[in-house]
Amino acid sequence: MSASLLREHSEQQFAEELHELAQTDRRTRPPNWKLSPWAVSTFLLGGQLPNGFEVTPKYIGNRRIIEIAVATLATDRALLLLGVPGTAKTWVSEHLSAAISGDSTMIVQGTAGTSEEAIRYGWNYARLLAEGPSAQALVTSPVIRSMQEGKIARVEELTRIPSDVQDALITVLSEKAMPVPELNMEVQAIKGFNVIATANNRDRGVNELSSALKRRFNTVILPTPATDKEEVEIVQRRVESLGRALELPAEPPALEEIRRIVTIFRELRGGVTADGKTKIKTPSGTLSPAEAISVVGQGLSLAAHFGDGVLRSEDIAAGLVGAVVKDPVQDRVVWLEYLETVVKERNGWKDLYRACREITD
Ligand SMILES: Nc1ncnc2c1ncn2[C@@H]1O[C@H](COP(=O)(O)OP(=O)(O)OP(=O)(O)O)[C@@H](O)[C@H]1O
Ligand SMILES: [Mg+2]
Repeated sequence: MSASLLREHSEQQFAEELHELAQTDRRTRPPNWKLSPWAVSTFLLGGQLPNGFEVTPKYIGNRRIIEIAVATLATDRALLLLGVPGTAKTWVSEHLSAAISGDSTMIVQGTAGTSEEAIRYGWNYARLLAEGPSAQALVTSPVIRSMQEGKIARVEELTRIPSDVQDALITVLSEKAMPVPELNMEVQAIKGFNVIATANNRDRGVNELSSALKRRFNTVILPTPATDKEEVEIVQRRVESLGRALELPAEPPALEEIRRIVTIFRELRGGVTADGKTKIKTPSGTLSPAEAISVVGQGLSLAAHFGDGVLRSEDIAAGLVGAVVKDPVQDRVVWLEYLETVVKERNGWKDLYRACREITD
């Protein structure tokens, strides 16, 4: 059945890995955790188990970041993952909750329209009118459900949520309870409950967290990849698994193309060429690994369906231009300048220059 799902949750996709980890895990597990903190970070970072089983890495980067995140969740403080868009905040949050609670679906998506009911509870109005306030008429939020089941609740894009609604989390995080005054009762959290929130560096101005709420979170910053090698590996791994999931009839992309895309992204992001010699302007959008992954993904689809199945520069040009030129006026200038001064002059990049030029005009 799961073969026809467009996207599986982490706990479904990696069920075997989680099972193997649980089997071999001899370390102490915090109450209600499915795995020990050590095994949780092995799930995230990958590694070989004593019985020879290979766990694939999900997060590629600094090991310490993941260890700090996991250690935080074993305390009574909640975890806030902060970073620029596309640095795997949501990704890490999903895998952490899958490994810790075996369930990554207790999720509140933060938007400007997120209401208090989405964090606390609402009412089934038909029942409320028929029976008056009762526990059966209560519509619980994912936060309440994870409190009752001792699981990790996920709050996505916390800073997009209006401040007064955000503050509904304060009681939950400090008292570990949610009062329901209408029923004269409260829901008390079971051990194992905690919260992982994600927020975007770039949107920070939108709804700054109150200091009362901020104090209840440990913040872990997810950086953009430190080295080209890391970034290439991220893109390569993700593209491979996306290609498998979408059943694209294309060859796995040549490492060379991925390297070129990553180089372009890193140079534009950093404002200087890889050799450190030429300064370049940076475009307005973020060029994170997530964008590189989608450029390669789109290229593979073009190559598979309209090309010869091999990823070539014509296939990635459209995606590249789309990723870089977010603002049609300013970014176009930046991009053209980069094409002319860097791409055109670089050894062996003529094909890419021509393909991009054709699309940019
Ligand atoms: N260090 C990394 N290791 C593994 N995968 C990564 C890494 N950085 C980015 N990715 C990949 O980038 C993609 C986007 O990540 P994700 O959606 O989690 O970003 P985000 O930080 O939540 O962004 P946003 O702020 O836009 O919500 C994922 O497919 C993820 O696999
Ligand atoms: Mg996200």
